[in-house]
Amino acid sequence: MEILSNKKLTEIRERDVLYMWSQNDAPVSLYIHNPFCRTVCKFCAYRGMLPQYGDIETYYRKILPRQLCKYSDIIRSSYISSCFFGGGTPSLISPKDLKSILNMIPNFSNIREKFFEIHPAYTTLELLDVLAEYKFNNIILGLQSFDSKTLLTTNRPPVSENKVKFIIEEIHKRGMFAWLDIVGFINCSEEELGIFINDIRKACLLQPDEISICPNFYYKHSVANSAIRELNECLKKLSGFHLYKSEMSFEAIKFMYERKKAIRLVRDNSRVEEYMNYIDVNDRPDNEKQAILGIGSFENENRDTFSLCRVNNKLVRYVERIVSGELKYYFVNSI
Ligand SMILES: C[S@@+](CC[C@H](N)C(=O)[O-])C[C@H]1O[C@@H](n2cnc3c(N)ncnc32)[C@H](O)[C@@H]1O
Ligand code: SF4
Repeated sequence: MEILSNKKLTEIRERDVLYMWSQNDAPVSLYIHNPFCRTVCKFCAYRGMLPQYGDIETYYRKILPRQLCKYSDIIRSSYISSCFFGGGTPSLISPKDLKSILNMIPNFSNIREKFFEIHPAYTTLELLDVLAEYKFNNIILGLQSFDSKTLLTTNRPPVSENKVKFIIEEIHKRGMFAWLDIVGFINCSEEELGIFINDIRKACLLQPDEISICPNFYYKHSVANSAIRELNECLKKLSGFHLYKSEMSFEAIKFMYERKKAIRLVRDNSRVEEYMNYIDVNDRPDNEKQAILGIGSFENENRDTFSLCRVNNKLVRYVERIVSGELKYYFVNSI
């Protein structure tokens, strides 16, 4: 999801979008968007919108099904390498509506990597049951921080450590991998840095399969140097976790930190890395020979669902947006 200035956009017709996909010659990562959040966190780069009464049902029973229908032939005839339900807060969908949506995706059971983002305050066991039934592998839990004061100042309902532990155990019981997202709210104080490091240590004790560590993209990070040093020291001492596809070193952490990429820890005895190819696509979408088909949007002019289609080895990027009730597509002229 991203904000684009209108200058960069040129409207295209829906039938041209569908024709382009019929010519796509790369494996496809399917992204299904959830536009809503119960509270909008001040720090969030992907923030959803607060739903009005009935919006969630309208979206999942009318708008998204209509969109999925349009793409069903494309999905059926493409090699879909992964499917990601992101947002916003996808776990706001009811288990029943989720089942209907999943039943509409052609050959869904053949998709090897399936991801779903859940918010610990808005997740039910019934939803986890549906995710397990449809063989999702990776359930991404947005923890952000264990520190309730930090969460409250970012407009996020705090969730107890016990509840996070319980959700991870329930994900594992159902045979899925549990991922934890942590944001470092480090701006300029050593105290914030201390909370961040403490969050990482606590997260490891809960034994998730993956931990995505993101220093807040928007902060100036006047403590960046000490943060990278402390992070390196902390990560080196953690037993039972390693860096995804990289040796643990000061340089590796600095590289990801400065590029605003998640620093990904993987539990040593977990098989989650066998189901993480999507991450490579997502982190380097312009380099990999891969397409991304983003489906779903609502009336939120600040956020667009983007897609990357590959035709004759050329990369075409466009966004989907609903403007005054009407679905529109725009080419992105410059990346
Ligand atoms: C699209 S959000 C979905 C999370 C889910 N709605 C929740 O809150 O639990 C995906 C992740 O991006 C990360 N994120 C969002 N804004 C960020 C920012 N400004 N800096 C760093 N990471 C951020 C958070 O860790 C978040 O869990
Ligand atoms: S972190 Fe999650 S809940 Fe908070 S605004 Fe972002 S997407 Fe919504």
